[in-house]
Amino acid sequence: MSGVRMIVLDTPEDVGRLAADLFEMEIAARPACVLGLATGSTPLPLYRELVARNKAGRIDFSRVRTFNLDEYEGLAPDHPQSYRRFMQENLFDHINIRPENTRVPDGLAADPEAMFAGYEREIGACGGIDLQLLGIGHDGHIGFNEPGDFFPPCTHDVTLTAQTREANKRFFASLDEVPLRAYTMGVGTVMAARKIVILITGADKADILQRAFFAPVTPQVPASVLQFHHDVTLICDRAAAGR
Ligand code: GLP
Repeated sequence: MSGVRMIVLDTPEDVGRLAADLFEMEIAARPACVLGLATGSTPLPLYRELVARNKAGRIDFSRVRTFNLDEYEGLAPDHPQSYRRFMQENLFDHINIRPENTRVPDGLAADPEAMFAGYEREIGACGGIDLQLLGIGHDGHIGFNEPGDFFPPCTHDVTLTAQTREANKRFFASLDEVPLRAYTMGVGTVMAARKIVILITGADKADILQRAFFAPVTPQVPASVLQFHHDVTLICDRAAAGR
């Protein structure tokens, strides 16, 4: 491992608490910081902790801006399975963040290319992402950057792999309802963040943790590129550290 520091804790709740400490420190140091945020089950203990600390007056989100990694193509913001809705329900609706300071790629964009360029421009106009949160897919995807022959530089559209649709079908009524495509920040967008925190929990992620951080960097395992970033904190539980 290179610029990656790995911290192994007992439980997913411990992972959430330590990640919340890092977010709390970042926001205390820069009240108007720019956060990159992620969806999935893994960040839920972190989001619960951020809500609790906001309610307790420990974290003030009033000047914080956020950019989410990704969104399903074709899902409206209020669709029950959209990532915008996920963020509202699990974080934004419960903290004092200004709605206009939260960004999620628009799943209904009439002109996706213009939306991608606009997303990148907005991140740049805010001065770039200070702290980027990541989870990881079983195939090593970050955001929705699936295994491929190169690392996509910018926000773009992707065809989801069968494995990713299968893994995410638990949120939908059936596999057929899982969108075939999605919009995601590029690997380059993620790598431009000043600091990255990646959370990995559960025995089912032990194999991909090993392939991403203890094996050669390859676009076949998109998360492996994080080995080239100068400031990555990988926080995992014992189950995920099993390999
Ligand atoms: C989705 C998201 C990713 C997330 C991954 C893993 O594919 N696009 O950002 O990291 O799921 O989710 P989970 O944490 O539920 O395993």
